[in-house]
Amino acid sequence: MKKVGVLVSGRGSNLQALIDAARRGELGGEVAVVVSNVEGALGLERARQAGLPAVFCDHRGKEREAFDAEVVETLRAHHVDLVCLAGFMRLLSPVFVRAFPGRILNVHPALLPAFPGLDAQRLAWDHGVKVSGATVHLVDEGLDSGPIVAQEAVRVLSSDTPEALAARILEAEHRLYPRAVRLLLEGRCRVEGRRVIVEGE
Ligand code: GRF
Repeated sequence: MKKVGVLVSGRGSNLQALIDAARRGELGGEVAVVVSNVEGALGLERARQAGLPAVFCDHRGKEREAFDAEVVETLRAHHVDLVCLAGFMRLLSPVFVRAFPGRILNVHPALLPAFPGLDAQRLAWDHGVKVSGATVHLVDEGLDSGPIVAQEAVRVLSSDTPEALAARILEAEHRLYPRAVRLLLEGRCRVEGRRVIVEGE
């Protein structure tokens, strides 16, 4: 059984989507450990509720590399094949990215490369785009800049508020992330430059 490590800083609804998909046998593997840099993160509580190892790693007062090395050690101790960032509010250092080459995923609430970074749903709404959505991409050392594995478009309605749009994008994230994880775990993705070639797609 392939093992996934999930990093969270907050609510953990994407973590929950991954846990639920694994339980249904739709993830292509299991969630082996959940790590958070925020002690009170709801994501850690969700992990405990699901009977999964939930590890708090404090980043305060540490160099980025030292913190990252600690997290990498925890993930390795749980024999993780794939790392999923799910609302993890820290940029990864090269130490981390090189420890899991091509094996770190992130989910982002916009159609990248539009609106990288924080508050993407509101920025898209403010900009007046007619279509936004969710992106799952491989993580490199930049901000939301790695090769794209999967995207789902969400229409922006004239009646939308930023909150309503964000809620529909979140639903898309919950569908998309488990599917993208499965593609990676089943070895159905190959990276050619910036492009992720998905077998059978
Ligand atoms: C999601 O919108 C995700 O795209 C972004 O952070 C949010 C995390 O939400 N990276 P949750 O913690 O998974 O509920």
